[in-house]
Amino acid sequence: MANRYLTTPIYYVNGRPHIGHLYTTVVTDVFARFMRLRGDRVLFLTGTDEHGQKIEKLANVEGRPPIEIADRNAAAFQALWKKFRISNDDFIRTTEPRHRPAVEELMARMIENDAFFLSHHEGWYCVGCETFYPEKDLKDGRCPTHETTPEWQSQENVFFRRDRYQDRLLDLYTKRPDFVFPQERMNEVLSFVRSGLKPLSVSRTNISWGLPFEFSDETRARHSTVSLKNHPGHVVYVWLDALTNYLSALGFGSGSFEKDAGGLFRVFWPGEGSTSEALHFVGKDILRFHAVYWPAFLIAADVPVPTRVVSHGWWLLHDRKISKSLGNVVEPEDFADRYGIDAFRWHLIAEMAFGQDASFVGTGFLTRYNADLANGLGNTLARALRMAADAFSGLGPAEACDENEVKAAAQEAVVNWRTAFENFRPNEAADAIRSFLSVIDGYIASRQPWKKVKVEGVTSALSRIHYNCLEGLRLAAVLLAPILPDTAEAILARLGISKRVSDLTFGDLSWGGLPLRSKLTPGPPLFPRALLPGPPSQMPEREEKTVNPETPLNSIPEKNGSPVPVTSAEAASARISIDDFQKIDLRVAEIVAAEKVEKSKKLMKMSIRVGEEIRTIVGGIATAYSPEDLVGRKVVIVANLAPAKLMGIESNGMVLAASLPETGSPSLLGVDPSVPSGTRVK
Ligand code: MSP
Repeated sequence: MANRYLTTPIYYVNGRPHIGHLYTTVVTDVFARFMRLRGDRVLFLTGTDEHGQKIEKLANVEGRPPIEIADRNAAAFQALWKKFRISNDDFIRTTEPRHRPAVEELMARMIENDAFFLSHHEGWYCVGCETFYPEKDLKDGRCPTHETTPEWQSQENVFFRRDRYQDRLLDLYTKRPDFVFPQERMNEVLSFVRSGLKPLSVSRTNISWGLPFEFSDETRARHSTVSLKNHPGHVVYVWLDALTNYLSALGFGSGSFEKDAGGLFRVFWPGEGSTSEALHFVGKDILRFHAVYWPAFLIAADVPVPTRVVSHGWWLLHDRKISKSLGNVVEPEDFADRYGIDAFRWHLIAEMAFGQDASFVGTGFLTRYNADLANGLGNTLARALRMAADAFSGLGPAEACDENEVKAAAQEAVVNWRTAFENFRPNEAADAIRSFLSVIDGYIASRQPWKKVKVEGVTSALSRIHYNCLEGLRLAAVLLAPILPDTAEAILARLGISKRVSDLTFGDLSWGGLPLRSKLTPGPPLFPRALLPGPPSQMPEREEKTVNPETPLNSIPEKNGSPVPVTSAEAASARISIDDFQKIDLRVAEIVAAEKVEKSKKLMKMSIRVGEEIRTIVGGIATAYSPEDLVGRKVVIVANLAPAKLMGIESNGMVLAASLPETGSPSLLGVDPSVPSGTRVK
C-alpha cells in the first residue's frame, strides 16, 4: 500500500478563512479522497500558523492576548473545514505543545552542521508576508503580494547559512525536475536560486509572540556533542517555525520517535528506500518558502526533503488577488448556504485550471451551477430515476447489459479522470465526469425509453436501456466522490445502494456494480435550478435562489431558462446598474484609534477594524471630529477602494460621511453599535 502524506499550508490566524484558503484545503481534500479511493494509505494534515508579528500587532490593537485571537480564528478554520467536508486526519496549531520539540530538533540538527551564525541585519520587512524583501523585489516600493509599504527593520539576528546550500538545492532540482508543480514554477524557482542565495535571518528580537530561541533538556540530551546556545530575547523566525509543522505532526523530535518504527514520521516521510510521498499543496504566493527555504532547512539538518511542492494559482476578484489585506474577500459560506456545500466545491474545482489564476465571478458561479449541476447531473439523474421507477414499479431494471455505448464512455471517463488526477489536473477530472454525464443524457434522448414503454411495454430491451442509464449514474457517483462526497452518497442512495463514500474503492469503477431490482428513490432535484438575477424591476418574485449580491454580476435575467444578454440601450442608461453598485464593497467598521494628521486641518488618520483586519484610513473629517469622538465608533466604509497616499500616509478605504449643505462639514454615517464590524452593507 502506498503511503501518501498530503498537507495544506497552515493558515495565519489574523483573520477568518476566505475563498483562497478554502480552495487550497478543498483541492487537497479532493486529492486525499482520490488517493484513498485508489487504495493509498493517506495522512492529510492542515492547521494554523499562530505566531509572528501580524498576530502580535492585531493582539496589541485589540488589547487581548494573542492566544485568544489564535483560539478564535483557529476555531473558525476548523468549523469551516468541517462544514465543507474536509477529510483531514489531523489539524496542527503551532501553539500546541507537540510542535515545539520538532522545531528544536530541526534547529539542533542544523546547529550540529554549523548552519547558523549571529549577525546584525536591516532591511525592508513586509509584515503580511513575514519576510524581508530586497529593494529590487519591491514593486514601486510596495510588497508585490500585499501591495503595502514594508517597514524598515534593523535587528541582531541568528542567521541561517542559506548560501551554503545553493548547490545542494540546484542538485535537487536537477535530479528531481518535478519537485515543483507546475513546470513553469519550477523554472521560476530555479532562476531564483541560480541568481544567488544570501544568508537568511531566522530569529527575531522585535517581537515576543513566537517560540523562544531556546532548547529544552530533552533536546540537549539528544544532541550532547554540540553546544546548543539559547538566545534570550529572540524568537524563532515564523517561517522556520511554521514550515516545521509538517514534521511535528509526524511526531518528529518527540521522545523516541526515531526508534519507533511504527511512528508516523517513519511511515509517511519520504527517505532512502522508502516509497512514501510527502506532497505539500500551496498557493503560488508561498512557493519560494516551500521549494527553497524548506528543502534548504531540511538539507542543512540532514532530513530528507519532501517529494513535491504542488502549487496553484490565485483566485482573483476584479483582477486582483483575493486577500484579507486587500480587503476584497469572497465569503464562501454565503454561496454554500444558498446553493449547497457541494455546489461550491464543484465550482472551485471545475472553474480553476489547476496551476493558473482564475477570476471569481458571481454569474459564472450560477451559470456553471445550472449547466453542470442542475442540468447536467441533477436533471439526468432525476429523469433516469423517474422513468425507471415508473416503468418497473419503483424498482431498478431486472436485466443487466454488458455491451453498449454508455459502458464504453464510462471506461473512457475512468481513464481520463484518473489520468487527470494523477497529473494534478483536478479540473480535467471534473471535465471527464461532465462529458460522461452528457453521454448518458444523449443516450436517454436517443433511446427514448418513455416512448418505448408505451409502445412495447416492459421488455428486456427496455430493461437494458434503463440499466445502462442507472449503472452509468452509479459510476458517475463514484467518479464524483472525491469532489462531491455528499452528492455521491445521495446518488448511490437514490439508486438503492447504501454505501458510504469512504467505503468505495477503485473496484467500484468497474461496469456492472448496480444491483438488479434495487429500490429506486427519485426524490426532489439534487440541485434546483437557480435564476440569474436581473435589475430590481426584473427580479423574480417567486422565492428563487439569487446570486450573492457581494459578487460582481452581469444583469442577465432569465427567459425560458436561458440567459438574455443586456441590451445596448440598457447598458447606455445613465443610471448605474445593480451590477455597478455591487462592485462597491461597503462594510461596517470600528474605529479603534485616531489621530489628527500633522500639518493638516482636515485630515484624520484612523485605525479601523474591519472584521478581523486592522487597516489605516485617512479621512477629511478632522474639522468636525476630535480623535476622542471617534474611537469606539462604528462607521460605514468603502472597503475595496484602491489605496491612496494622503500627506504621505497610505489610506486603504474611505469612511462615508454626509457633506452638510453650505458648510460642507462632514457628518459620519452611523450604524447601530450592535452590528458587528466587518458586516457588509448592501
Ligand atoms: N502561514 C502561511 C503559510 C505557512 S505554511 C508552512 C500563510 N498563510 S495564509 O493564511 O496567508 O495562507 C496562504 C495560502 O492561502 C496560500 O498559499 C494559498 O494556499 C491560500 N490563498 C490565500 N489567498 C488565495 C487566493 N486569493 N487564491 C488562492 N489561494 C490563496 O501564507
